[in-house]
Amino acid sequence: MRHPLVLGIETSCDDTACAVLDGEGRVLSSVVSSQLAHQAYGGVVPEIASREHLSNWPAVSAEALGRAGVTLPEIDLVAATRGPGLVGSLLVGLSLGKAIAWSLGRPFHAVHHLEGHLYSPFLTPPGADAAPAVAPPPRFTALVVSGGHTNLFEVDDGRIETLAETRDDAFGEAFDKIGKRVGLPYPQGPHVDRWAELGDPARSTIPKPQWALGLDFSYSGLKSQALLAVETLERAGVPTQPRENGTEPPFEPAVLDLLAGFRAAAVGQVIDKLSRLARTRPVEVLAVSGGAAANRLLRRRLGEWAAERGVDLRLVPLVYSGDNAAMIAHAALLAERRGHSPHAFDADATSRLPLDLTSRA
Ligand code: KG4
Ligand code: ZN
Repeated sequence: MRHPLVLGIETSCDDTACAVLDGEGRVLSSVVSSQLAHQAYGGVVPEIASREHLSNWPAVSAEALGRAGVTLPEIDLVAATRGPGLVGSLLVGLSLGKAIAWSLGRPFHAVHHLEGHLYSPFLTPPGADAAPAVAPPPRFTALVVSGGHTNLFEVDDGRIETLAETRDDAFGEAFDKIGKRVGLPYPQGPHVDRWAELGDPARSTIPKPQWALGLDFSYSGLKSQALLAVETLERAGVPTQPRENGTEPPFEPAVLDLLAGFRAAAVGQVIDKLSRLARTRPVEVLAVSGGAAANRLLRRRLGEWAAERGVDLRLVPLVYSGDNAAMIAHAALLAERRGHSPHAFDADATSRLPLDLTSRA
């Protein structure tokens, strides 16, 4: 166990997360408590999320410290997410982080959520025998696909440049909305992915979209096409909601095909943008992260794409694809190594926060 020991806190949305990393980026513990209270609503209710963060924190932090075998006074550095995210949720983690750092007399890092995600492919699985984090190469391309973001970045010695973003819905958000329409529980993305495995995209009626927008992403057109396709099935008398008798798969073949068609088009867009990017600049290392980086088809297609081009693909380990605090502690550790030691006690929680600005600070 090498110093500095870093305590990470992440509460940007509906996961209450706390982690302890050592100075080599070993994840000594990473605890994530997902709030189930939102399931009754089919999506995140901001007011409930902030309250749940407050009530979850004592148990989550005690478990993270306990599993790491570390006491709070041994922590050398505290890091929490400052944005982007839900302001009420962010405020809980950010305020807790500042209070802990202040009371211990330790430095405090306010971390950009996406900076956490984009370095997360270099983390190694957590636990007592965890390996040190892999040093990120000086230059790499990063793809972040989550419920709120679909971004391509160029990272150069800690400086982060946004190459592309979504003009409307994010990749994971589109999965959640289609999943909700066919009656799947929140978060719907993993369920859509699971049932899409059983469908045939060639048999779906979702047309192959034409993408403009240069490198930027767009998922609202595809989402509307998929929603329309669900409606068309219903008008033809095909049941589109999960069967209640628990038989699997819970859907008619036509619904499975629709989900498969939607997923293939969503993933196809990512591959198309990457190919465009590779035509304009060299992509040597591609680091892929974010909750939706767990998508099975996306992982397979990225693997093929990278192998064809000799690209060094770093897919985030599945334990760190969704929101977690290990990635926040890790980003702070990397910033500290680059000589950035922001005493960020005056950082505000911000719902929208451009990454390019924070990384230059
Ligand atoms: O990174 P994350 O935990 O939270 C955000 O920062 O948004 O990502 C959560 C998002 C949700 O939209 C969820 O449905 C989606 O990632 N997601 C998936 C899959 N697993 C999670 N989307 C598609 N396929 C999956 N396997
Ligand atoms: Zn996230």
